[in-house]
Amino acid sequence: MTVVDDVKSRLDIVEVISQRVPLQRSGRSYKANCPFHQEKTPSFHVFPDRQSWRCFGACATGGDVLSFVMRAENLEFGEALRQLAQQTGVSLPQRGQSPRDEAAHKINEDARAFFQRTLASAQGASAREYLEQRGLDKQAIEAFAVGLSPSDGESLKNHLTREGYSPEQLASAGVVRTGDDGLNHDLFRGRLMFPIRDAHGNLVGFGARSLDGSEPKYLNSPQGPMFDKSRLLYALDRARTEVRREGAVIVEGYMDAIAAHQAGFKNVVAQMGTALTEFQVDEIRRLTGKITMALDQDAAGQAATLRSLDVIQENFRTKANRHQGPDGSPQAADPDPRIIVMPPGQDPDEVIHRSPTDWAKLVDSAVPAINFRIDAYTHHGDTTTSQGKAQIVAEAAPFIHLLGGGVQQANAVELLADKLSVPIDTVKAALSRPTVARRARRAEQRPAAETASPFAKLDHDPMEEHCLQLLLGFPELRELADGLRAEFFRRHENRELFTRWLEAGPGMDQAETLATVRRDGDDEVAAHLNALLEKPVIPLDTNGRTTSFLEVASRLEERNLRNLKSEEVIRFAESPPDLEDGEHDDILHLNQQIKKNEGLRRGQAQEISG
Ligand code: UTP
Ligand code: MN
Repeated sequence: MTVVDDVKSRLDIVEVISQRVPLQRSGRSYKANCPFHQEKTPSFHVFPDRQSWRCFGACATGGDVLSFVMRAENLEFGEALRQLAQQTGVSLPQRGQSPRDEAAHKINEDARAFFQRTLASAQGASAREYLEQRGLDKQAIEAFAVGLSPSDGESLKNHLTREGYSPEQLASAGVVRTGDDGLNHDLFRGRLMFPIRDAHGNLVGFGARSLDGSEPKYLNSPQGPMFDKSRLLYALDRARTEVRREGAVIVEGYMDAIAAHQAGFKNVVAQMGTALTEFQVDEIRRLTGKITMALDQDAAGQAATLRSLDVIQENFRTKANRHQGPDGSPQAADPDPRIIVMPPGQDPDEVIHRSPTDWAKLVDSAVPAINFRIDAYTHHGDTTTSQGKAQIVAEAAPFIHLLGGGVQQANAVELLADKLSVPIDTVKAALSRPTVARRARRAEQRPAAETASPFAKLDHDPMEEHCLQLLLGFPELRELADGLRAEFFRRHENRELFTRWLEAGPGMDQAETLATVRRDGDDEVAAHLNALLEKPVIPLDTNGRTTSFLEVASRLEERNLRNLKSEEVIRFAESPPDLEDGEHDDILHLNQQIKKNEGLRRGQAQEISG
């Protein structure tokens, strides 16, 4: 969840507005004389279900709780956000690297070098032997900066203290912990140390494997803003380029990833001991549309795989998926991730060391996730009786429903019919039975990844972002942007970017425009701008860009109109319009506009395909 969403979710629009405007209940909504213009009959409405407000009168504008406060108090977006964040106790993330972060990074780098030296020293003899026996060669150990933590529990702390770091700094970097004696000791003792870096190569912590069988097998750096397992993928910093080129292969363990890279499979990354989160899938989706997962075949591993698949599928279904192929051309996303079925009881690590060719074959023969899922349903059910079959269909229904109406869904239905040895139409009929369909719909409304970390839910609006990317990247589109209005953007970060872009005006060149949009560069909006600018845009020629822009602009307008219309509908449901005051005309006008818009778009689409 973004900070804006977090703040909004803690506020009730009715409460906030009623502190400033006396609201009158009217069915499912509230009304009042508009606080933003003079009027005698109330045309200002608040819709609690939608958490929105609108003035149907002279202002002809509306929005959410944040835009109300901006308008009512005459605040800029950033100021309003800060004010509301303070009221709701949401802390705005620090922008840029705070000095504390920098110290934490330095301490971790220092620790990493210290662990490497320890491994190379006399103390490290048996650990080196272990690594050799596991098949890791010198280059891999060097490349992944594998090290060893001394077992006395004091050496690292003493070393870092001599370097001038304070006990507080060591604690906040996560390398020491306070023992029962109230004193700080090294967190990692006598363990193999795997430095963990974020996607950009910044060291954020360690995974530490025990060498003497003590539990836990892996001790990781403490979870926190710097080391957040739900946002990390091991080895992604080294795998980026190959992932872009070949798609991502996801394995379970650090050792698996290292083995793969050592053998030349450089598009391999490892999970961090948890099911994939939406954030991790986002990160991969920006690089590639092709995901292959190699995961344990034991029960826990399977359950985790299924959860990860849910996250991937939902993510790919709901988010724009545009990236470039190796030659810079747009690459079609493979919306269906693939699963590598491991030989029972074997890790990728073992397979790769035994035979890289076997591993390559396993990856090539990975099965589409749909087959994997349907298999999982049929394996766990009774496929011999018609009752059992009906039960399996009912259980698979939510998943099949999630696939949307296209080829993938047809595919899944066919597979299921095949597995159950019944005609396709029988499965279809069973799927559309009211109880089954209802259950499936409920599943669809459930948030995708209940198991994902609370940090993980990232909100984006692909349409708005695409529109902004085009406007920011291609100044010539400005002359086509006349009809575009700030209120078409639902996400505040986007709306604010657009407003600033409008301020920049047509006289400015690209650099000036960006500088104007960025302003001082250290707020929520600037961070969002950077993320947008980093994201690849599909390469289009001038014509393609024009069409794409007109298309997205008209979609945004249409969405806004629809939104307006649903509010009108609620409003009129409560108090039927007075046909003489022209309000009825408004609705008619709206309907016409929506139709016209759709027509325009269809025309454009034909032009493109024709
Ligand atoms: P594995 O037990 O498969 O680890 O756990 P591995 O990397 O293959 O190590 P070897 O081959 O046994 O030496 C898979 C991943 O789960 C996380 C780690 O990220 C590990 O790489 N994990 C596992 C933990 O975080 N803590 C644990 O106690 C165990
Ligand atoms: Mn392993």
